[in-house]
Amino acid sequence: MKILITGALGHIGSSLIRELPYMLKNIDNVTLLDNLSSQRYPSLFNLPNHKYTFIQDDIRNTDMDKILVDIDYVIHLAAITDAAGSFSNAEEVERNNYECTKVIANACLKHNVKLITLSSTSVYGTQDEVVSEDCSLDDLNPQSPYAKTKLLEEELVIEMCNRGLNAVICRFGTIFGDSIGMRFHTAVNKFCWQAIHRIPLTVWSSAYEQKRPYLDLKDATNSFKHLIEKDLFDGEIYNVLTDNFTVKNVIDEIEKNIPDLKIEYVDNKIMNQLSYDVSNNKFINTGFQFKGSLQKSIKETIELFTYR
Ligand SMILES: NC(=O)c1ccc[n+]([C@@H]2O[C@H](COP(=O)([O-])OP(=O)(O)OC[C@H]3O[C@@H](n4cnc5c(N)ncnc54)[C@H](O)[C@@H]3O)[C@@H](O)[C@H]2O)c1
Repeated sequence: MKILITGALGHIGSSLIRELPYMLKNIDNVTLLDNLSSQRYPSLFNLPNHKYTFIQDDIRNTDMDKILVDIDYVIHLAAITDAAGSFSNAEEVERNNYECTKVIANACLKHNVKLITLSSTSVYGTQDEVVSEDCSLDDLNPQSPYAKTKLLEEELVIEMCNRGLNAVICRFGTIFGDSIGMRFHTAVNKFCWQAIHRIPLTVWSSAYEQKRPYLDLKDATNSFKHLIEKDLFDGEIYNVLTDNFTVKNVIDEIEKNIPDLKIEYVDNKIMNQLSYDVSNNKFINTGFQFKGSLQKSIKETIELFTYR
């Protein structure tokens, strides 16, 4: 089995490229493609003793025909991923993310390669109840340019599945948990960083009691194994999240490790008034077990900073 992972040096990719060769026994080679736009060079340090090929290139400039001729699966992670920051570079986010997915999906269709592509639970936006994958397009309410582009990418992939592409779309919750290429711009990791450095935790004014979907990185990595082993390339969308938490839940867990945290309430363009829960039942019904733990992963992240 030969796998291509795009965006391989990122938060999720840098964990996946270390775990996957052990999780799936029959992998011959893992090809890693990343343009290093987010400068995660250390993600290539001390990789396990396995056969890797690294290609430093932008997906949009890469000769995918040459790469895919020898590949069985693509896990497409490459994207500009800062949702809150995407208000100031909306065009670049759409150009980069949409084009990358289009290039990858077209090449997978042409070479009959199976594709796992990443979306986000942020496509749900404001909702007033538990939401599932059945939520109609009209009811989806993405709040940022990043999330709006994810929705366009989903539509593109679904349309291509109708033309014969073997793909699956995962709507991931916000990742928590550490990896060598991890980032600290999303809720749980950002709060850990601020708490460790005794910076007041910047909580969006309306968000303290609002529920949002989160995904432990360990569950994320396992979900790829599950999709490949179960051959779930059925053109479906799956919500992949460990659980829904409020900001209060997250801060309570951090406080167990670092007491007396200070909170500063700030405004952000993604803020809205509604709390929403996302259901992960559809993915569980395929036989997947979520085992991640907010408590354990927060503790592990904080313990990385031994000087604190
Ligand atoms: N991290 C989360 O909380 C989260 C939640 C939901 C969905 N996702 C999705 O999961 C995927 C991976 O997320 P992540 O957190 O690992 O992101 P990340 O930002 O840590 O990594 C993305 C990687 O893609 C690379 N990249 C960007 N544009 C590229 C291009 N044109 N060509 C080649 N490489 C390119 C970057 O250099 C980076 O290493 C993304 O699609 C993201 O939208 C992430």
